Amino acid sequence: MDAALLAELAAIAGREHVLTDPDVTAGYATDWTRRFHGLAHCVVRPRDTSEVARVLLACARHGLPVVPQGGNTGLVGGGVPPAGGAVVLSARRLRRLDPVDTVASQVTAGAGVTIAELRAHAARAGLEYGVDLAARDSATVGGTIATNAGGIQTIRYGPTRAQLLGLEAVLADGTVISRLGGIQVDNTGYDLTQLLAGSEGTLAVITAARLRLWRADPPTLTLLAGLPGIEAAAAVAARISSLVPGVRAAEYFEAAGLALVREHTGLPAPLGRDHPAYLLVDAAASSDGAERLVVLPELTDAAVALDTQARTALWAYRERHTESIGAAGVPHKMDVAFPAARLAGFRAELDEIIAKLDARAIVFGHIGVGNLHVNVLGPGPDDHRADDAVLRLAAGHGGTISAEHGIGRAKAAMLPLSRSAPEIAAMRAIKHALDPTGLFNPGVLLLAPGGQTPR
Ligand code: FAD
Ligand code: MLT
Ligand code: ZN
Repeated sequence: MDAALLAELAAIAGREHVLTDPDVTAGYATDWTRRFHGLAHCVVRPRDTSEVARVLLACARHGLPVVPQGGNTGLVGGGVPPAGGAVVLSARRLRRLDPVDTVASQVTAGAGVTIAELRAHAARAGLEYGVDLAARDSATVGGTIATNAGGIQTIRYGPTRAQLLGLEAVLADGTVISRLGGIQVDNTGYDLTQLLAGSEGTLAVITAARLRLWRADPPTLTLLAGLPGIEAAAAVAARISSLVPGVRAAEYFEAAGLALVREHTGLPAPLGRDHPAYLLVDAAASSDGAERLVVLPELTDAAVALDTQARTALWAYRERHTESIGAAGVPHKMDVAFPAARLAGFRAELDEIIAKLDARAIVFGHIGVGNLHVNVLGPGPDDHRADDAVLRLAAGHGGTISAEHGIGRAKAAMLPLSRSAPEIAAMRAIKHALDPTGLFNPGVLLLAPGGQTPR
């Protein structure tokens, strides 16, 4: 690593915020799943927007690419450097958190604020941030915007982009664009805020955001039902939504995932007997809502929780899937979504594909929005056969190859399965206009020109 650049970065951010010790940088150079890792020339941790701009200009002058990183909980390898090396720009010190505007139900938060901190801040003002996910203690405002994260409340409040009223970001040439005024309706040309949502660190470094908050509408009822399969789970989820107002989550898991969770956590069986599939529903409904549900003929074996402790206990079976799968191996994570009517067809064919690969699949996800997480255990990290087969199957069933995790490095070669050639050409034109030298996140989302053909 160029000593002159290190000295420049230290002059900008302070020596203690330029990390070069490989034992320390290793945690920034490997992703959460342990499948993706690369070379971090150094990790620089600017403390404000102006330091971010100066860091970018210094890296650009020295010709080194920059990988923006938040909590490093991303699941598609987009936040870690490539094998060829890059400077990791950690946004975790961008910790601005303004007082909540309770009249407008809005707040401005720095990119490094975690989702748990943001949610707690909003809750203290009697409001709620619409996005929640199991990675809440580490995932950041900047990272969730850059991936347009979904999560367990998407069915109620939409994904991250639906929470965005504006943002502040630094472009590759050090220019700062800022739109933090909180105007609710603004029709003045291209929506740069929405362009950066889901851009996966390829267009700019997000430094802060103006976020919409919601009137707090906490769940009071959690239901866990054992069911014969995915078709029944999708049908019961839809039926519950029509019977009970305020469904906030409709989540799915299966016997194989439950077995891994129980093995990893030591939790007891959640219901009276075992089932192929499970549906977990959260609703802001009172006990009469619960009465309406428990008489549903489809619910032959179900548990209903009405207090926080009992609800948390039921949620553990769903929320602890990711760590339990990770404890069993390095997973290949596919994050697909379909119209509800196509879920069962995809699920049935998935088993045939996985059987041929000498692998096992753990399937769970946000069934209320048609989103399934297919986790394949068995193939080595660089063996792409399972990824390719599962994503092709999803596309063949009219699905998308990413519902909420993004494309990252993991699926860059497969982007044409979900996007047409003209769409990819338009994305490349945007990338070239905003980042002509390719400073940000090379190989993430868009492969090098000419490389965008499915494997
Ligand atoms: P990182 O992992 O650090 O980065 C992710 C991407 O964003 C990278 O491409 C990076 O370059 C870019 N980026 C990060 N910060 C910035 C910035 N300031 N400016 C520009 N680009 C930036 N995801 C869901 O959508 N729904 C879920 O329910 C969900 N549950 C999860 C549960 C667990 C246990 C785990 C480990 C992950 C889960 N995820 C989920 C995935 C992950 O939490 C999200 O993708 C999250 O948005 C990543 O945020 P982060 O701050 O960790 O970003
Ligand atoms: C989840 O819904 O729990 C996440 O997206 C994490 C995962 O897919 O493992
Ligand atoms: Zn998810």
